[in-house]
Amino acid sequence: LERFTMPTRILVVGAGAIGAFYASRLACAPNVKVAVVCRSNLRAVNSTGFRISSPNYGEYTFRPHAVFGSPAQAATDHKQPWDYVVVATKSLPDVSDDSAVLEGLIGPKCSIVLVQNGVGIEQPFVTRFPQTTIITAVTIANAAQVQPGHIKHHAWTRISLGPFLERMAVPTAEEAEEQAMQSCSRFVELLRAGGVADAEAFNATTMQLIRWHKCAINAAMNPTAVLAGCADNPTISNDLELGRHVVAVMKEILAVASKVTRSPIPPFLPSPEQVLTSSKRSSPGSKPSMLIDFEAGRPMELEVILGNPLRLARAYQLDIPRVESMYALLKGIQSGRGPRSRL
Ligand SMILES: NC(=O)c1ccc[n+]([C@@H]2O[C@H](COP(=O)([O-])OP(=O)(O)OC[C@H]3O[C@@H](n4cnc5c(N)ncnc54)[C@H](OP(=O)(O)O)[C@@H]3O)[C@@H](O)[C@H]2O)c1
Repeated sequence: LERFTMPTRILVVGAGAIGAFYASRLACAPNVKVAVVCRSNLRAVNSTGFRISSPNYGEYTFRPHAVFGSPAQAATDHKQPWDYVVVATKSLPDVSDDSAVLEGLIGPKCSIVLVQNGVGIEQPFVTRFPQTTIITAVTIANAAQVQPGHIKHHAWTRISLGPFLERMAVPTAEEAEEQAMQSCSRFVELLRAGGVADAEAFNATTMQLIRWHKCAINAAMNPTAVLAGCADNPTISNDLELGRHVVAVMKEILAVASKVTRSPIPPFLPSPEQVLTSSKRSSPGSKPSMLIDFEAGRPMELEVILGNPLRLARAYQLDIPRVESMYALLKGIQSGRGPRSRL
């Protein structure tokens, strides 16, 4: 009964494009209180809330239940336990360990939901919170924060979620999986109640394959956009040589995925050739996020998109030379840019 009367309390850490967009949808579900931790957009959000512009949901204002200036403030100022802490920061393990900022926020019944690109992003959270349910999520939504507090949602809403079950012995493999699956299904229900009709829950292995598949697309398109001289998506996809290159990169990453998960890529996920074909139709000027970060002088998500797959490939004695070269070149560019890109 308590489940139906007590509100579900959700804290979003990293209320940028993706974090604020999904926070605004979750807040529409009945009996849900959504709070956010802001950083550079704190003043704007405190004064006017978030403005969301979306082709699906129109133009609306989202005022979070509470706005905190740091995770530490959320831990001290908020006395009620969180049901979900959603992390939607950029995944930059070479710059900061974002699991550390969750200290003090994670109670015994709290699940951590990670909405980030890349593979291996769960590891710091599992290591720090070994008893906590971790839900790992991949989205193909396309959104940007165009002004502090103003989120422009461009396209797609799909978000795939599943339990992350590396440490299978807490308290037993089946119990842990069942607990995590229940928590995940409940979160999917909330997203759907908030209007995200294509939120979907998957088992742990399928979810990892979906994560690897998204990583394959990111590993192909994102570094190529930077290395091809700031090329947008349709420019890359419609160029014969670059098109061949991105398909080959996707195949390298997917080969690692199958080896690591000991599973074939599910047939419902598009093949590299199909990804290339649909990318040819993307609107002129649409850019991968890594290129946007590069152009803004911000650090790029190199470790989780290229570095982690490469390290796993080496561990499994797989050769992924295109990924290896792009990783080396982009790391060179990133470190050559100095402290500004390492903030
Ligand atoms: N945007 C998309 O269309 C899209 C699509 C699919 C997947 N993704 C993935 O989703 C993740 C989030 O991307 P995004 O585009 O939403 O990034 P974003 O717009 O840069 O948002 C990240 C937010 O996290 C905040 N942040 C970082 N560290 C923090 C901390 N320690 N405490 C509080 N706030 C913190 C940032 O604050 P500051 O502004 O102060 O840095 C920023 O507001 C990434 O892994 C990305 O690859 C994005």
